[in-house]
Order: sequence, then C-alpha cells, then structure tokens
Amino acid sequence: MPDLDGLRAVVTGGAGFIGSEVTRQLHDINANVTVFDNFSSGKAEYLRNCRDRLTILKGDVCDKEAVSKVLKDQEAVIHLAALPFIPDCYYHPEEFFKVNTEGSVIMLQESIRSETVKKFLHISSSEVYGTARQVPMNEEHPTFPHSTYAVSKLAADRAVFTMHKEHNFPAVIIRPFNSYGPNITQPYIVPEILLQLSMQNENVILGNVESSRDFTYITDTARGIILALTQKNAIGETINIGSGREVKIKDLVFLMAGLLGKHVTIENDNTRLRPYDVERLICDNTKAQKILGWQPKIPLEEGLKLTYEWMNKNEVSFRVPFKGWRTYYNYRRTNSV
Ligand SMILES: NC(=O)c1ccc[n+]([C@@H]2O[C@H](COP(=O)([O-])OP(=O)(O)OC[C@H]3O[C@@H](n4cnc5c(N)ncnc54)[C@H](O)[C@@H]3O)[C@@H](O)[C@H]2O)c1
Repeated sequence: MPDLDGLRAVVTGGAGFIGSEVTRQLHDINANVTVFDNFSSGKAEYLRNCRDRLTILKGDVCDKEAVSKVLKDQEAVIHLAALPFIPDCYYHPEEFFKVNTEGSVIMLQESIRSETVKKFLHISSSEVYGTARQVPMNEEHPTFPHSTYAVSKLAADRAVFTMHKEHNFPAVIIRPFNSYGPNITQPYIVPEILLQLSMQNENVILGNVESSRDFTYITDTARGIILALTQKNAIGETINIGSGREVKIKDLVFLMAGLLGKHVTIENDNTRLRPYDVERLICDNTKAQKILGWQPKIPLEEGLKLTYEWMNKNEVSFRVPFKGWRTYYNYRRTNSV
C-alpha cells in the first residue's frame, strides 16, 4: 500500500459499503480521515474499528456551505457519496440527479475553491457503459447508460473531467464494476441471494438471471481506489476496477448454494425484472494494472465465503431511503411481523 502517513483526506459516503472499507484501509496506513455522510444508507458502526485519526461528520454533499466547511485544511477527497441502488432510480430519477450529479459538482467545485485540496477521486460506475458491445470492456468502451442512475453518474464523470481540464485541478475517475463483501448497505444481488439462501429457502426468487456481471471483493475495490490517490500518472484518467471474470447471475446462485451445501432451484419473478436492464458487464482491468499496479487478490469463491461469514455474525438491515422497491427479504420480513 502507498505511504499516506498523516494525509488529511475526506471520504464522502465513508459510512457506506465501499466507503467504510476505503476509510478502514486509509486509517490502517495512518491517514487522518474525515467521513462526510448523511447516513441515508451508511452506518456509523461500520467505522467502529477506526478509533483514532477519524472524524465523522453528518452532512449532505448537496449542502455547499457544509461541504466547504468540511474541506477546510483537507488535502484529498475521495467522493463516494451517492444514491447507488438502481431499482430505486426508476421511481426517483430527480433525487438521483440531485445527489449523484449535482452533489459531485458541488464536491469538486468546493475542492477547487479550497486552498488545500490537491487531489480529487471521483467514484463512478461500470454502469455508465451500458450493456457490453465488446468484451472485456476497457475505458474506451462507448457509454450508453441504461438507467437514470447510470446517466447521473456519467453526467458527474463528464463534469469532473471538464472541471479538471478547465481548472487544471488534479482529478481521477474510477469506475468500479460490481463490488461485494461485508458492511452491506444495499440489497445488491450478492446479499440478496445470500439472504434468501440463509432463510433456508430451496427456491431463490430473482428477476433476470441470464444477465452477467463482474464481481470484485470489497478489499480489492478499496485498494484500487486508494492506489489512485498516489499515482501521479492517474491524474486526468478514467480507470476501471474489476476482476475481469464474467459470471451469470444464475451461476452465482449455484456457486453460493454450493458454498452453503444447499440444493436450490431458481424461480423467476417477472415483477423483479428491471426495465431496460444491462445484460452484460465484464471489466478489462489492463489500465488499472499499468497505472495503479492493481490486480484483484480475492477470488470470487473466497470473497463469497467471507461475505457469508460476515452476514452470520452481523445483522443485515437496509435503510432503504425509498419505498419504490422491496427485496424479497424485506417483503418476507415485513410480512412475517
Ligand atoms: N457497490 C458497487 O458495486 C458499486 C459499483 C460501482 C460504483 N459504485 C459507486 O460507489 C459509491 C459507493 O456505493 P456503495 O455501494 O458503497 O453504496 P452505499 O449506499 O453503501 O454508499 C453511499 C454512501 O453515501 C451516503 N450518502 C448518500 N447520499 C448522500 C448525500 N446526499 N450526502 C452525503 N452522503 C450521502 C450514504 O449514507 C452511504 O454511506 C457510489 O458512488 C456508487 O455509485 C458502487
């Protein structure tokens, strides 16, 4: 890991799934981290292992005054705060643009205006590419976002890139593919399947199981993000972070069932199909290897075991900010009480 001893860094969304792991890793290499989060999905308990050199501030990335205060005397910003759960954006596109696009512009604008911030990492998403037109997908892959979430992230990417050029301000755009692991905040597909399996179900009820994704364990994703803080030749670049392994959702179910020693069948629930879903995402991580010296370390089978172990020791609950979508898990919970 790079030497970031004493670096003063703000992590927006630092109480979230990826943010809490980025914060933990930064803390372990002696950076002074300020987490800025409105806790709409993030949880303070995910930061409990970082005792010293950590400040937690509750606030909103759309609140310009609060942002400018948080950035005082800071040296680096890792901007992760967002509304990330795609099924919600179908019902709430306006809120997604507000937080994901406007919030990102405010974070970068105030970083540029600050006297001290010298590096801005914008965390984008592989979703901006839309479904694969060629595989694996490198950073030159055309961007045809399928959801308003993805459009809101792409709009932020473009604003970050333009402001970086206009102001000669050091910024990097990181595009993670699907991440999974402990500190669950959203009913993403891995926790969703594990939760259904752990409820002793023989049937796993899902929407589109023919689609495929590229899954990266959370410690690998966070390490890639942190490496981008120190590599000078990353400035102005867009860099994918993903394992490069394609897995169909139905194969993911059988892989997890095997790990848990279960025999399952998959039941298709058409009400869970996403309109205009992305069928295929597979990362070409050559650029991350070259510029960041990054490679994934945790294979999917090991990462899934670690995730399941974490789930067995921790309560999984979602602070769902919207009511537009209910997971099977939430549905079952709501209907069993
Ligand atoms: N998890 C993935 O697979 C994945 C893949 C690609 C990109 N990303 C991106 O990574 C980032 C983190 O996603 P995540 O999966 O950790 O989700 P998450 O929901 O756990 O994290 C988002 C964090 O931002 C906070 N937040 C939301 N709105 C805010 C606001 N207005 N002001 C301040 N804080 C706010 C939430 O409380 C939460 O802690 C997002 O930008 C997301 O688009 C995630």
